[in-house]
Amino acid sequence: MKKIDVLIVGGGLAAIMCALKLPDHLTVTMVMKGSTKEGNSWKAQGGIAAALGRTDSPLLHQIDTLKAGCEINDRKMVSILVKEGATRLKKWMNEGLCFDKDASGQVIFAQEGAHGQRRIVHAGGDQTGKRTMEFFSKLVKNRAEVIENHAAIDLIVENGTCYGATFIDDNAKLTTIYANETVIATGGIGGLFQETSNDHHITGDGIAIAHRAGAELMNMEYVQFHPTLIFSQGKAVGLASEALRGEGATLINQFGKRVMDKVHPLKELAPRDVVARKLFSHVQQGDQLFLDISSIKEFSKRFPQITQLCETAGVDWKQGKIPIRPGAHFHMGGIKTNEHGQTSISQLFAVGEVACNGVHGANRLASNSLLEAIVFGERTGEWIAKNHLILSEPKMKDRKRKELYHPKVPSKKEVQKRVSVALGVVRNGLTLQKFILWIEKYDTHVWMCRPRNDWSKEELEISNMMITSLLTAKAALANETSCGAHFRQEKKGRKLYEQTPAKTTVG
Ligand code: SIN
Repeated sequence: MKKIDVLIVGGGLAAIMCALKLPDHLTVTMVMKGSTKEGNSWKAQGGIAAALGRTDSPLLHQIDTLKAGCEINDRKMVSILVKEGATRLKKWMNEGLCFDKDASGQVIFAQEGAHGQRRIVHAGGDQTGKRTMEFFSKLVKNRAEVIENHAAIDLIVENGTCYGATFIDDNAKLTTIYANETVIATGGIGGLFQETSNDHHITGDGIAIAHRAGAELMNMEYVQFHPTLIFSQGKAVGLASEALRGEGATLINQFGKRVMDKVHPLKELAPRDVVARKLFSHVQQGDQLFLDISSIKEFSKRFPQITQLCETAGVDWKQGKIPIRPGAHFHMGGIKTNEHGQTSISQLFAVGEVACNGVHGANRLASNSLLEAIVFGERTGEWIAKNHLILSEPKMKDRKRKELYHPKVPSKKEVQKRVSVALGVVRNGLTLQKFILWIEKYDTHVWMCRPRNDWSKEELEISNMMITSLLTAKAALANETSCGAHFRQEKKGRKLYEQTPAKTTVG
């Protein structure tokens, strides 16, 4: 048992940005499920979108963000993202954060889907996540204590206030950490699906523990599928960044025919949901799909991470084609927060992909996620720094393993298989209902609110997957209107790649 000022559950970019804004006199601990070099932030390829170019402006970035999000985005959050994003990123660049430059020393801006212009800064070609995390990890090293390989069991919440969380390590040892402020930064839900670009630790834990504690959730049905996961020997082996299409790669079928022709005026660079649905329809027909990269010069130099992923998986990229399929990538929904990361529970905050303040609407614009991590991670740290409270201590006791109850759970693979069917690119009411009934068959009503200190790490992870997928399925069933990444099949005659028309006004 220990008592600190700020507990951060997670260790990705949003967690670090929050920690960096906390003053030195506060004790800060970051607890992560895996190790410091794992997690989605490290894997990010494309880059960071920000209005830094001469022909760009936050307003133009705002218009693209709203259009991609089908205009159900929270406009205030979008405005904060694009304005503060550019300012905050510039400040870090002045402090040494480096992005790729051309021969004359100018930062290179890349193109990605649904952006009206080139505005993506990148590092090490397609290693933006790795380089960015290396830079910020160094800064946070002396600022926060880091505890690895500890999975969160539950939050400690009494009378609507959060006092910290309990954790389990690989040897089933329990640790209780009391804190004045607790920040959830556990990432998204990609690991609920069979095919994902996400790190294997990302299984919706933060949403499950927040829900068990009574926190409000929002926009849970909006799950983004990235059109191009590298697909080798029947499984996804990593991401092939949208930046490839920004550099001229095209999407083709087994006959070499371009599949995005006549689908959307932006073709391969249409919003992600549109491209993913079109590709999904081809997969359903049994087509094989490829990224034709033959027009990209110096491919391995510009995209070293993708080159490495292909080579490890035995994909011969030198033939000019990478086999691809859509797969789960990003969750627009999550724990409801405001612009300071505050949740509906006092002293509980959420940042990064696990949080939802509505900024991404129904479909996140490419490369807005690292920007969101920086802007709202920093804002949350700044708010805590200004409003830090010392909580009168709750009954401080180690939460011992007392009960001997084990939940009824299926295998992780079985959950992933069923989630992929029910909550995939295209959904329908009947399949969602069947999925909900299947989950509930495992007595979720018995164990949903039960203390979990005596559960194994595996039981905790699988039950979290079940809770999060159940909540996602319920939200998807309740929302009969297709919008952005949430597509309901029932509406007859609707084309799979049709996008909900966005309004054109910007407030
Ligand atoms: C990509 O590089 O295609 C992914 C970037 C993102 O998710 O925005």
